[in-house]
Amino acid sequence: MKSISILGVFVADLCFVGDKIPSKGQTILGKKHIVGPGGKGSNQAIAAARLNGEVSFITKVGNDSHSEMAFNLYKESGVNTNSIIQDEKLFTGVAGIMIDKDGNNAINVVSGAAEHLVAEDIDNKIETIKNSKIFLTQMETPDEVTIYGLKKANEQKCITILNPAPARSIDEDNFKLIDYFTPNETEAEFYLNKKIETTEDIRHAANELLKKGIKNVIITLGEKGIFFANRKENFFLDAYKLKKPVIDTTGAGDAFNGAFAVGLANDLEIKEALTFANKVAGISTTKLGAAASMPFAKELVNY
Ligand code: RIB
Repeated sequence: MKSISILGVFVADLCFVGDKIPSKGQTILGKKHIVGPGGKGSNQAIAAARLNGEVSFITKVGNDSHSEMAFNLYKESGVNTNSIIQDEKLFTGVAGIMIDKDGNNAINVVSGAAEHLVAEDIDNKIETIKNSKIFLTQMETPDEVTIYGLKKANEQKCITILNPAPARSIDEDNFKLIDYFTPNETEAEFYLNKKIETTEDIRHAANELLKKGIKNVIITLGEKGIFFANRKENFFLDAYKLKKPVIDTTGAGDAFNGAFAVGLANDLEIKEALTFANKVAGISTTKLGAAASMPFAKELVNY
């Protein structure tokens, strides 16, 4: 059984590219505008499916032009949509994304229909989780649904990955539900309530997270690569050396998580799975858009 189930959110990303991300109270004239598919869970599902993962996405959308965009994308990329609930009365979510000339971003997500996911929806889709080796989720769905999904996945003996984005509180008791925890530096700082500045801080942060009961911690560090730690080993991995310039980092974390899930589903050794995920994340930054920037397996040889 190699399947991956992903619980999360789909939104339409309204992206505005300009020289800078406007500061509070400021108006700037932008350079480019695109509307494309986004939402962390959905981006991760696309990333995994394009890398030949067998992926089911669990979410809730409305019945509008944005959900139509989602279903077209899932069809093209081969994501199983049997666990997507379509609610006629709700609207599909949107995100406003500001992108600067160096590819940095600032994002405001309104999850829309997915905000109305409830634990019962997970129960109704339990067969999907039951048939999965890996369960991957983030923090864009309501907290109680995220945690319920992790509990159910644990009961079904799935390998669980929590990408804690955006960072929100988690009850200390629930950290034990997580096999792999994949915060970026800012998110790790949130869970420890401490600044991370040095290499030593990163090691210390991972250690503190392990003490909470998480089994494996992966702190993603952008262009500095990643740090992995569990109770037996720990190491840094450099970021993938890109042959093309960075255009847009939106969705790089999603590319990483989706690819990592595929690596685990394919029984790769941890270092191999992380190296693969690092490469996929790097490649995604060389293209504009979130889901649109997820590479297909056949593209990886060109980078
Ligand atoms: O991780 C990037 C994603 O975060 C964007 O696609 C946006 O929709 C937000 O969910």
